Amino acid sequence: MHSYIDMAIAPPPDQAHRTEGIKLYGPDAFAGMRLAGQLTATCLDDVAALIAPGLPLAEIDAFVRDFAARHGARPATLDYDGYAYACCTSVNHVVCHGFPTAKKLRDCDIVNIDVTLVVDGWYGDSSRMYAVGTPKRAAQRLVQIAHEAMMRGIAAVRPEAHLGDIGHAIQSYAQTQRCSVVRDFCGHGIGRVFHDAPNILNFGKAGTGAALREGMIFTVEPMINLGRADVKTLADGWTAVTRDRSLSAQFEHSVGVTADGYEIFTLSPKGLHAPGIVLG
Ligand code: MF3
Ligand code: CO
Ligand code: CO
Repeated sequence: MHSYIDMAIAPPPDQAHRTEGIKLYGPDAFAGMRLAGQLTATCLDDVAALIAPGLPLAEIDAFVRDFAARHGARPATLDYDGYAYACCTSVNHVVCHGFPTAKKLRDCDIVNIDVTLVVDGWYGDSSRMYAVGTPKRAAQRLVQIAHEAMMRGIAAVRPEAHLGDIGHAIQSYAQTQRCSVVRDFCGHGIGRVFHDAPNILNFGKAGTGAALREGMIFTVEPMINLGRADVKTLADGWTAVTRDRSLSAQFEHSVGVTADGYEIFTLSPKGLHAPGIVLG
């Protein structure tokens, strides 16, 4: 009974242990997520100093591995489902899950770097967009829209709101900006496992889906395209790209539902929310 949660992370006694299959966590879990989230965010802050034209993506991977080792953390993606790297690096029209190979960054690229560090068993999952040199205005605008879409989704998070409110906030904003929302990937519950219930869809209808409760923990991670929403996965089994080869951008935070709203566990300590891009 209740084997998914132990006494150390027991939720407040007035809360049910689960609502519609979604775990509820207490203060000790939030403290664990804060530590893991802040280490991931610090790693993403430190990566910003490396980003420049000519940098092989593999050097980002090497940095993340070393950073994790130096801080007693484990990169969750390493050996996850056969994935062989400590991070994902998704450049330009790559939507997500790009391999950090010998391929080099070039001036004007935009790149998403997605890192999940496990600290004391808690998973901190976050990604940001980085500018390489000076990207074109359209690329910069897409990055701004993707960040704003994520933040609007997060702003919908509070007890008694519904899961669909998050997707609706993301989708309605992206569409007013004439961008499309990728439907093939979503956010997810997180905690002491990488991917848990519920799915956090990046589109939807306000007022639909499970009600949010204090103590839920999940990611918000919309992928926004300049062109059409359609994606395909390359023969490597992982790399997702836009079918029309239009630019794609994504941000991700791990968040918890609090009594009066939300806590973002993975906020940048240095305020490097989108390194190289000016956010509105
Ligand atoms: N970090 C990704 C997420 O946001 C998952 C990557 S799984 C991998 O959920 F295997 F591709 F690394
Ligand atoms: Co995630
Ligand atoms: Co991630």
